[in-house]
Amino acid sequence: MRQYRDAKEKHPDGILLFRLGDFYEIFFDDAKLAAPIMGVQLTSRPLGKTGRAPMCGVPHHAWQAYVGKLLHAGHKVVICDQIEAASKNKIVRRDVTRVLTPGTVVEDAYLEPSRHNYLVAAWSRGLEAGIAACEVSTGELLLCQLPKDRLQSELERLAPAELLSPPEIEEYRFDPVRGQQRLKDILGIAYPASVGAQDAPLAVGAVGVVLDYLKQNQTKVAPGSFTVRTYSPDATMPLDAATVRNLELPSLVQLIDRTSTPVGARQLGAWLGAPLRDAESIELRLAAVDELVDAPALQDRLRDVLKPVGDLERLVTRAAQGHATARELVGLRRSLEAIPAVQEALAACSALVTRELAGHVSTAPELASTLARALVEDPPPTLRQGGVIRHGYDADLDEISDASRGARDWIAKLEATERRRTGIRSLKVGFNKVFGYYIEVSHANTAHLPDDYVRKQTLTGGERYITPDLKQREAIVLSAQERIAARELEILHDLGTAVTEAAPALRASAHAIGMVDALLSLAVAAAEHGWRRPEVNAGLQLSIKGGRHPLVERGLPAGVFVANDLELDPDAAQIVILTGPNMAGKSTYLRQAAMIVLLAQCGSFVPAERARIGLADRVFTRVGAHDDISAGMSTFMVEMTETAYILNHATRSSLVIFDEVGRGTSTYDGVSIAQAVVEHLHDAPRLGCRTLFATHYHELTALAERLPRVRNQRVEVLEEGDSVRFLHRVVPGGADRSYGIHVAAVAGLPSGVIARARDVLGELERQRPLEPPDVQLGLPIEMTPDSVRKELEEIDPASLSPLEALQKLYQLRAKLTP
Ligand SMILES: Nc1ncnc2c1ncn2[C@@H]1O[C@H](COP(=O)(O)OP(=O)(O)O)[C@@H](O)[C@H]1O
Ligand SMILES: [Mg+2]
Repeated sequence: MRQYRDAKEKHPDGILLFRLGDFYEIFFDDAKLAAPIMGVQLTSRPLGKTGRAPMCGVPHHAWQAYVGKLLHAGHKVVICDQIEAASKNKIVRRDVTRVLTPGTVVEDAYLEPSRHNYLVAAWSRGLEAGIAACEVSTGELLLCQLPKDRLQSELERLAPAELLSPPEIEEYRFDPVRGQQRLKDILGIAYPASVGAQDAPLAVGAVGVVLDYLKQNQTKVAPGSFTVRTYSPDATMPLDAATVRNLELPSLVQLIDRTSTPVGARQLGAWLGAPLRDAESIELRLAAVDELVDAPALQDRLRDVLKPVGDLERLVTRAAQGHATARELVGLRRSLEAIPAVQEALAACSALVTRELAGHVSTAPELASTLARALVEDPPPTLRQGGVIRHGYDADLDEISDASRGARDWIAKLEATERRRTGIRSLKVGFNKVFGYYIEVSHANTAHLPDDYVRKQTLTGGERYITPDLKQREAIVLSAQERIAARELEILHDLGTAVTEAAPALRASAHAIGMVDALLSLAVAAAEHGWRRPEVNAGLQLSIKGGRHPLVERGLPAGVFVANDLELDPDAAQIVILTGPNMAGKSTYLRQAAMIVLLAQCGSFVPAERARIGLADRVFTRVGAHDDISAGMSTFMVEMTETAYILNHATRSSLVIFDEVGRGTSTYDGVSIAQAVVEHLHDAPRLGCRTLFATHYHELTALAERLPRVRNQRVEVLEEGDSVRFLHRVVPGGADRSYGIHVAAVAGLPSGVIARARDVLGELERQRPLEPPDVQLGLPIEMTPDSVRKELEEIDPASLSPLEALQKLYQLRAKLTP
């Protein structure tokens, strides 16, 4: 129990797995917490005189699966193991041998191949924030300083496995001076400037926290452990959670993921999550993709040579951390051996980016040959049996195993030798656990035995003897296994050190190969889906010919999807109001525009005949009803919060998608808010952003007459008697009615209900005769003459927090509702 307490004291915040015999046991509160997560029985054992201690346990040979569950649930796990062989009379020494946390694990068992696994430290001071994102499994350490209001979306993008931030981590630990010291002491980086962090003190402060945490949790960190880079948040587009969800980014990644390696898959995911903002970088990527799209033979060749590279990045790190198994080291060797073929294949590429990447790919022939000489082709899964290292690699090991083999041979031949020596033909050599090897002679023959025979045991049928020679051989055989295992462990450790030395260059290679793989994936997907190269420029126009929604298109039979055009221009057609009945294809049209822009800015080809894209600084989406129940917000509240966020953050170069704003409330409220939002987007001097606005309030179409940069478009439907047919074609002009009842009929509502609805509609229209659209639109506003408008004009959206904006909207709404 002393050992238990000591271990617990060192890591009070982790769940302690304590090795007892063949089990890892978990006690007390840890047990209560862990048992349900691991799905094992919670039991108890006597403690002291009266009490019982809750406990649970897992078999030691299956511990990884259980630990994985704990890590997934976000817990830190501390392994306390026996650190000496069990012996009879004393307590075995135990100590903490491993600390695993969700953000610092390196084993494949706990990681997803195609996803990053970041340990992130983040904090803010004043208007700025600093981030240090570290991926131990790939040896990547990223620094970033950014405006505080962008911290959240950046964290969402990184999706940390573990986040270290105030108040859980005291703020003084983030002190930049302290961080700088850590950078120097631990990573040997004397000046932040050498990793581009001279203007990012807050990020440097965050690095200090990350490094402290790694040290504290037994991760090896030394100069060269990490590739440290500072990135600018301005280079890429921050995507908020709503947009990631609305544009189904994960599905989009899946659609274009044709990577051959996990490194490439992670890179592709990272690119899609961080679209670029400058035309030059995008063009460079597009050119590299373009070259590959038209070269199917090269595509095939690259895929063939990339596949065997495997997860070079994580293999290298695991080996350098000393956690690689012999099998993984063999895997690393195969990876290394695969690199020259990649280099050769890349020589056939001429795009600038590809050529540059090729320059970063280096082989490590010496390391590869060391590993090849050292390790057998197919090592056993554990070290206990020995047999991991090749004969001829290590003299010490060979000596032990030769001696062992010699002794075994000697013992194997002993029966024959002794029969000859004694002339006793029934003499036998055997082995048991108590006495070890022995020579057995029947009672009849014991009279004339050689002098070196020492009697050990008498049985009914005979006597058992040992000889000094036999004991000596036996000692060699029995100790050999342990000594072999120990020596092999040392050798593996040395191999790990050899990997550590080569690690920085290998990581750079892995990174470059990952990028090539991601580029190749973009090309393969583009060719497969028939996408085209977009044209990007620093202007603000958006022109799409024959655009398609990549995901909806795939869900339909070939050729069924109706392609549509789109023109947006802040100076002319700034806002498109898209009307049409439910199910016409409004949402699809909106999303496809945003997806095309995003894909293009990631350097991908796009699902369109032609796309000319003035780059967006951000893409905002407010789509559909999505209840954020966990946060206790109603649909309408969510809708308004997101709307406020957009109005506060969009700029003239943003692309904004509004799908059915105001739907979550009554019609009057809805129309009023929708109209106010459109007017604001049109008139606010800081905005003027390209906007797509879908609505089933056909009343809004009247706005086009008043606001010069608003255009009406509608999704065409064909009226067929009482029913409608959706053409999914977007054409100029507004819809004049909502076809709600038609749609209800298509959906199969009982005909009685449809007929009644028609009656009610007629009744309502008689009471409130259809007015010309503009008058009708004025209706809600007339109730509170101009005061709403005035108030709106007085608002400075830039100075409002989302919450204030929301309050304002509520106030406005209150004015509109009589
Ligand atoms: N351009 C299109 N071509 C073919 N089918 C389409 C197209 N756009 C939409 N659809 C089909 O219509 C359905 C409804 O589209 P959606 O965009 O959700 O309509 P709305 O937002 O107008 O209610 C989609 O699920 C899809 O099956
Ligand atoms: Mg819709």
